[in-house]
Amino acid sequence: MTAKKIFSGVQPTGNLHLGNYIGALKNFVELQNENNKCIFCVVDLHAVTVKQDPKLLKQNIRKTTSAFLACGINPKKSIIFNQSSVPAHSEGSWLLSCIARMGWLNRMTQFKEKAGSDKEKASVGLYIYPVLMAADILLYDATHVPVGDDQKQHLELARDISKKFNSDFNAPNFFQVPEPLIQKNFARVMSLKDGRKKMSKSDPSDLSRINLTDTEDQIITKIKKAKTDSDPFPRDLKSLNTRPEIENLIGIYCSLTKTKPENLFSDFNNKNFSYFKKKLAEVVNDKIFPISREIQKLNNDVEYIDKVLEQGSEKAYELSSKKIKQLKNKFGF
Ligand code: TYM
Repeated sequence: MTAKKIFSGVQPTGNLHLGNYIGALKNFVELQNENNKCIFCVVDLHAVTVKQDPKLLKQNIRKTTSAFLACGINPKKSIIFNQSSVPAHSEGSWLLSCIARMGWLNRMTQFKEKAGSDKEKASVGLYIYPVLMAADILLYDATHVPVGDDQKQHLELARDISKKFNSDFNAPNFFQVPEPLIQKNFARVMSLKDGRKKMSKSDPSDLSRINLTDTEDQIITKIKKAKTDSDPFPRDLKSLNTRPEIENLIGIYCSLTKTKPENLFSDFNNKNFSYFKKKLAEVVNDKIFPISREIQKLNNDVEYIDKVLEQGSEKAYELSSKKIKQLKNKFGF
């Protein structure tokens, strides 16, 4: 089997959480360990599409890097870097914004959600954010992009931009058309407080998410307090359709233990929810607590983190500047 070329990114906008782990980081590590060529980026240029405190941003870039490493991304095997240190991302984004169509961007649901009711006040950066994301991916000829379900539409846009460029410039293979790698089941981890809302860094309630830096006790408390209902443990998949909070907790359990929900229905049949939650807290703690401890340790080693980013950026610079040169050449520059 030929090695895949993997690219993915995570925004440095606060603590990473269980959704980022299940939707993205866990899969990054598996892909790396299957000997694919992997590039993982702390997408700090994406972060500034909404206002950031510069000092905090700098800390968050390092913290996100610590989280990558603590989850098992190995800088000897994979390239880890931050986006703003490699100029090709900004340059490529401009060139690709001349390929992308307004109509395509107007359809992006994440922009609509993030901009809220007053779109006039959203930054232009927030609007063209998916074009920057396309540049990230296309600059490295990535064949596969592991992401959570919420990024699917952005990935489709990257594919559209790639195909349009190749066709407009009569260069059939210039850009790779990247394939999304999205976990088949439970690819969207939901808030612990509302099963219809995505688990997110920006939710004002810390009880809505499990942070990758939480302590064992915090994890136990958050799962204990997670919203459920008064019905007994479900017996089949169908009954989950109307019970989003239960579906989410079962999804977390299944994703972390690689089990099918069908097995849970028999294991927890006739047991009450507090028993399931106790088992779920054990499963989450087994995976997340060692990561949390490692993040705390790495956060104290700024010199090491900066070195990882610097060395990763050098490699990313080398790869992307070749592609940007070819791209500019295509435009006639
Ligand atoms: P970001 O920083 O919001 O999220 C990072 C990754 O975590 C996934 N994710 C989730 N998965 C499941 N359930 C959730 N609740 C959840 N929340 C987040 C996201 O799908 C993502 O994979 N635009 C991207 C970053 C990006 C990127 C790229 C990704 C920039 N350039 C190029 C891939 C390739 C973002 O904001 O992710």
